[in-house]
Amino acid sequence: MGFYEKYLLPKLLNAAMKSPGMSYLRKKQIPLASGKVLEIGIGSGLNIPLYQKDVQVTGVDPSEELQTYARALAADADIDVEFIAKGAEDIPVADDTFDSAVVTWSLCTIPDPMRALSEIRRVLKPEGRLLFVEHGEAPEPEVVKWQKRIDPIWSVIAGGCHLNRKPDQMIVDAGFRFDEIERRYIEGPKIATFNYRGIARLI
Ligand SMILES: C[S@@+](CC[C@H](N)C(=O)[O-])C[C@H]1O[C@@H](n2cnc3c(N)ncnc32)[C@H](O)[C@@H]1O
Repeated sequence: MGFYEKYLLPKLLNAAMKSPGMSYLRKKQIPLASGKVLEIGIGSGLNIPLYQKDVQVTGVDPSEELQTYARALAADADIDVEFIAKGAEDIPVADDTFDSAVVTWSLCTIPDPMRALSEIRRVLKPEGRLLFVEHGEAPEPEVVKWQKRIDPIWSVIAGGCHLNRKPDQMIVDAGFRFDEIERRYIEGPKIATFNYRGIARLI
């Protein structure tokens, strides 16, 4: 891992993920999690202060650099947070463990998001809910054209994030159905700000 990935990128990501539009969506979504919660791609832990106080959170993320920020937030929060420092494509947890799974702006980055979703499916209880907020492919063909053009450079600068994945389609393909789905832009450049927020259950 180079200097940029180890020292600069974690700082940049932690700052960039605090935009007003993102913070609004986090505040709307995270308090809906209940019981035993799996957070995929917990990153710098910006969701941690927003959980209800009676949840137990397991955060899965391979970035030990971002985990340093998340541990500091967890120490201040009045909830149990356990960290698993590895990729979500292989979660070392028994089947049917969690009441809620949370993923915010990480299906864009996880190298094999379909495998991670299949793991979420496996470890979620049959009545469990997947709460997600993701960015992805925009609705206008002109914006999609620019997303495709810029994605190869963007993914290098943004730690593997892709601009043009389709989180709603991926979630359905992984065997979930939506209780709620909202698609809209938040502030910022159109190529990176078309957001998908929703709640999904296992079919
Ligand atoms: C844009 S950040 C979002 C962080 C956090 N979810 C948030 O809302 O601020 C993307 C996250 O995906 C994580 N990530 C990358 N590869 C992953 C993998 N294989 N499994 C789980 N998380 C991964 C990164 O380390 C990073 O924390």
